[in-house]
Amino acid sequence: MAKIEALKGFSDMFASDAVMFTHIEAVAREVFSLFSYQELRTPILESTSLFARSIGEDTDVVGKEMYTFQDKGNRSVTLRPEATAGVIRAFVNSKMYVQGSVYKLFTTGPMFRYERPQKGRFRQFHQINCECLGADEPENDAEMIYMLHLFLNRLGIYDFVMQVNSLGCSSCRPVYREKLSTYLEGLDKEKLCTDCQRRMQTNPLRVLDCKVPTCAEYVNSAPKINEFLCADCSEHFDKVLLLLKSLGIEHTVNTKLVRGLDYYTRTAFEAVSTDIGSQSSIAGGGRYDGLVKQLGGGDVSGIGFACGMERLAMLANKVQESKPVFYLATLDAPAREKGFNIVQELRSHGIKGEYAYSERSVKSLMRQADKSQAEYALILGENEIRTDTIIAKNMATGEQKSLALSDLAEFLKNPPHES
Ligand code: HAM
Repeated sequence: MAKIEALKGFSDMFASDAVMFTHIEAVAREVFSLFSYQELRTPILESTSLFARSIGEDTDVVGKEMYTFQDKGNRSVTLRPEATAGVIRAFVNSKMYVQGSVYKLFTTGPMFRYERPQKGRFRQFHQINCECLGADEPENDAEMIYMLHLFLNRLGIYDFVMQVNSLGCSSCRPVYREKLSTYLEGLDKEKLCTDCQRRMQTNPLRVLDCKVPTCAEYVNSAPKINEFLCADCSEHFDKVLLLLKSLGIEHTVNTKLVRGLDYYTRTAFEAVSTDIGSQSSIAGGGRYDGLVKQLGGGDVSGIGFACGMERLAMLANKVQESKPVFYLATLDAPAREKGFNIVQELRSHGIKGEYAYSERSVKSLMRQADKSQAEYALILGENEIRTDTIIAKNMATGEQKSLALSDLAEFLKNPPHES
């Protein structure tokens, strides 16, 4: 029968990749807990309206990339394309908010976007996502960027540029949007890509960070948002930049950084790798002070970021699964029977090891022991069964030692150091 392939843009993750993901999540938990973040797991499937209302109807994510379908009850549902909307929905539904408190939540898991797959871009990908709700001071923005920076460094990732920008607020952004629209109307539309010709009407700010080189060049002399920020937004952004400087975080102000999701206000940021090709954004985020209200909650400000785990895995220091401590080689049927129990008992002591499930020659067993990269080959034969002993062979030095079975677990837990 014909094989069934995984869907395009969806991948299986075997041990070598899965170990890396586990490592990245462990480092994330360690770093985020220093800042008192707590884990939240939200559903993968949500009402379509959640994303339309938060990310924005005119964004590429909602307009083109969502996995949306009718469920059996005829409801429109969507596989989450990002985590923020679901986190805020959960926060609002839980009624956990108490005036004046700050909530720090992180979440990890698969996200789905129907994009054209290429290196670093998938239809199912994974994010590590942090959200901080209830604080609107510039310190909060700088701390968020600092935490992301620390996390990347802890993974061994140093070659990236932290780009920052301010997207203004509901009072100053419309003024800028108007100015930008007027500027774009004055251009020869034919020189812009078809997406940008549409964006000019629906979401003109998105024209600024279009990845098509001709568009990028063509809008180079467009008015810049930082010249239109209101006094409050300007003061907020200046303070964020000052704090980043005082923390020693290298950063670049990119006035064309607008991000692809509509909920952002004020500070936006992106960690852009200099190493992994065109899909170079390893993390992105920003402030979204109106989102909680937009999703039916109170007037609670928020800021957050998400990292793409596949992209982190390409850049992080490599990790390997721990090696086994022992490989048991049994020389005859009675030894195999006894050996089975010894192996399980050693594992119950927390000692990692393997043995052959089927009968094999001594030569093949020793080859297997070598291949398993175990520290010790344990050899059990007729003589050892009779004397309740076992031979432990140090695979690195070749040195062999006969041990009482009762001492085996202790020996493997604290092996003697080479002199
Ligand atoms: P985003 O910029 O859409 O932001 O995605 C964040 C990160 O997810 C990107 O920087 C990238 O590393 C990764 N990513 C996105 N799409 C793909 C893909 N198709 N394949 C592989 N990796 C991908 C958000 O999702 C916001 N929710 C971030 C946020 C949290 N803002 C505030 N809080």
